[in-house]
Amino acid sequence: MRIMGTAGRVCFLTALLSLALSVVHSHREETEIYHVSVGHFLLLRCPRSNAHSKVMWSRGERSNQTIPSGVEVRDGLLWFLPVQMLHNGTYTCEKRDESGFLAVKFAVLVSSGECPDTLEYITISEGVSGSLPCKQNEIFKLNTTKAARWMKDCRPLQPLSVDETGLLRLPAVSESDSGKYTCLVDISLDGRNYTAAHSVHLTVEYDPVLTEPQVVKPQETVFMVTVGMRKDLDCYAYTGFSEDGETFMYWTVNRTFIEGDDDLNATIEYGYDRGKVFFQSTLFIYKVRREFLNVPIQCWVRNSVGEETGVAWLQEADHSALYIHVALCLSVSLGILALAAALFFFKVDVILTYRKLLSHFHKQQAPDGKLYDAYVTFVQPDIQSSDDLASFALHILPKKLEEKHGYCLYIRGRDDCPGEAMHDVIATAVRQCRRLIIILSSNASTEEDLPLHNNQYQLCYEQKVGLHDALIHNDPRVILLETGGPVDYTRLPESLQYIRRKQGALKWNKVHLGTHKLTKLHSNRNFWKNLRYHMPPVPAR
Ligand SMILES: *[C@@H]1O[C@H](CO)[C@@H](O)[C@H](O)[C@H]1NC(C)=O
Ligand SMILES: *[C@@H]1O[C@H](CO)[C@@H](O)[C@H](O)[C@H]1NC(C)=O
Ligand SMILES: *[C@@H]1O[C@H](CO)[C@@H](O)[C@H](O)[C@H]1NC(C)=O
Ligand SMILES: *[C@@H]1O[C@H](CO)[C@@H](O)[C@H](O)[C@H]1NC(C)=O
Ligand SMILES: *[C@@H]1O[C@H](CO)[C@@H](O)[C@H](O)[C@H]1NC(C)=O
Ligand SMILES: *[C@@H]1O[C@H](CO)[C@@H](O)[C@H](O)[C@H]1NC(C)=O
Repeated sequence: MRIMGTAGRVCFLTALLSLALSVVHSHREETEIYHVSVGHFLLLRCPRSNAHSKVMWSRGERSNQTIPSGVEVRDGLLWFLPVQMLHNGTYTCEKRDESGFLAVKFAVLVSSGECPDTLEYITISEGVSGSLPCKQNEIFKLNTTKAARWMKDCRPLQPLSVDETGLLRLPAVSESDSGKYTCLVDISLDGRNYTAAHSVHLTVEYDPVLTEPQVVKPQETVFMVTVGMRKDLDCYAYTGFSEDGETFMYWTVNRTFIEGDDDLNATIEYGYDRGKVFFQSTLFIYKVRREFLNVPIQCWVRNSVGEETGVAWLQEADHSALYIHVALCLSVSLGILALAAALFFFKVDVILTYRKLLSHFHKQQAPDGKLYDAYVTFVQPDIQSSDDLASFALHILPKKLEEKHGYCLYIRGRDDCPGEAMHDVIATAVRQCRRLIIILSSNASTEEDLPLHNNQYQLCYEQKVGLHDALIHNDPRVILLETGGPVDYTRLPESLQYIRRKQGALKWNKVHLGTHKLTKLHSNRNFWKNLRYHMPPVPAR
């Protein structure tokens, strides 16, 4: 009794369990959808059925219609030999076996065209290899000859790698591989040829693989800065992915975050560069503080794969070299300027000093072998002024040039013998002189006394010879000295006017006691300097 009771309880439980299972199965409301093309072969198997299952096929939602012609049930499977447009509709299979009762709906959606539609989608990441299933398992189980081929967007796909189950293997895919793929299986059945087809949509997604960040810059870069000035630093890094916020980028200055520092701010942006995701950040240092110098300024790039930092250093620009350079340039140019100014304003003094220095080191001989440094002559307008002229020519001039500076003069009226007016003697004397000094006297006081027909002074013979040689050969050189005020050149010979225009004249003022004495002394000091400047550098003896 006890044993029976136990067995009965077991039986009861089993029955209850199978009832529960069958209830669950019979309430299955899923519909399996098959897209097929007219003329194709279709084989439907009731799920989880086997050779021992009792399967019933019917058409329609309520399972109360018989299956249409052209459709057969063989071995519990529903055969469409082949699919016709009127087969479009719903089919139901009801299965009964030891595992219970099962009813499944099939929607057969018939369309024309070789490549049926599909609701099936497969996504593969760009650059990744993948495979597409043919999904004709029932057909591949048939004991017939069969061959699978694939089409993409209903065009034959070549070359391809298809295995015995029709699986299409794809090498690393690119965006252009996206499209509708159709697997066609050609079978031979009962002496007839059929084709079964199944389609799938392939979507190739750009889904870069997250890689370790790679900081391109900065890389231990040193920047020269000026304290108090602005400096922007750029950080550039490659990394795998961006949009999902898995990559972080931030800056530290001396290992301190920049946030909260009014002198620091940063921007971050990202984009695609030749198939890679890049991150770029600019650190704005609005004002370089001294504590930013010589400390690591780091740009951190971090994602779930890894972290990398780029380091920049700020150093104070050394301006001292620049300052020295500028100062040197400035002083050199100032020196040149000063020299130029000195030469311009103190040309005479400079040359005279130079000659003096030179004479200290070289006891030079006059190079031309001439006997005299200058031939002194004067253009005498009248008798009145001749006293002053004679005093200048015979006393003042030789005192300065001969006694003080060692020149050797040939002075007309001193060095010639009276009456010695032989032309060749005079000409020889002139040519023995290195300069011809012609002293001119102001003729203002004598203007009215002059006869009209004699309005031009006649030059004496040595003046003619000297001027001729000076104008033709530039030797001797002529020095014009004006004494006693302005000289009216219009009344002087053309040759003298020409020399006056060309090289000017030196003015000597007779020093009267009284007014403007100091000014005249000063201008006469210049007169002597200028005269010495125009005289030969080295006295003849
Ligand atoms: C099947 O059932 C539907 C709805 O209940 C009904 O309209 C139709 O006439 C039935 N067909 C047959 C053949 O019984
Ligand atoms: C096929 O049947 C479905 C419903 O099962 C319907 O929506 C569709 O329009 C039919 N197609 C044709 C071509 O009759
Ligand atoms: C398949 O067909 C061959 C002959 O065409 C036959 O010998 C074999 O038994 C069949 N196999 C099955 C599993 O039906
Ligand atoms: C079926 O196809 C094979 C080759 O694919 C061909 O040799 C044969 O003639 C075809 N049979 C019919 C009935 O079209
Ligand atoms: C930093 O820059 C952002 C925009 O780039 C700006 O909104 C923010 O006000 C700036 N902060 C400071 C402290 O300048
Ligand atoms: C940088 O940081 C270190 C340690 O925090 C500190 O000792 C040092 O004074 C800092 N340098 C500057 C220039 O602030």
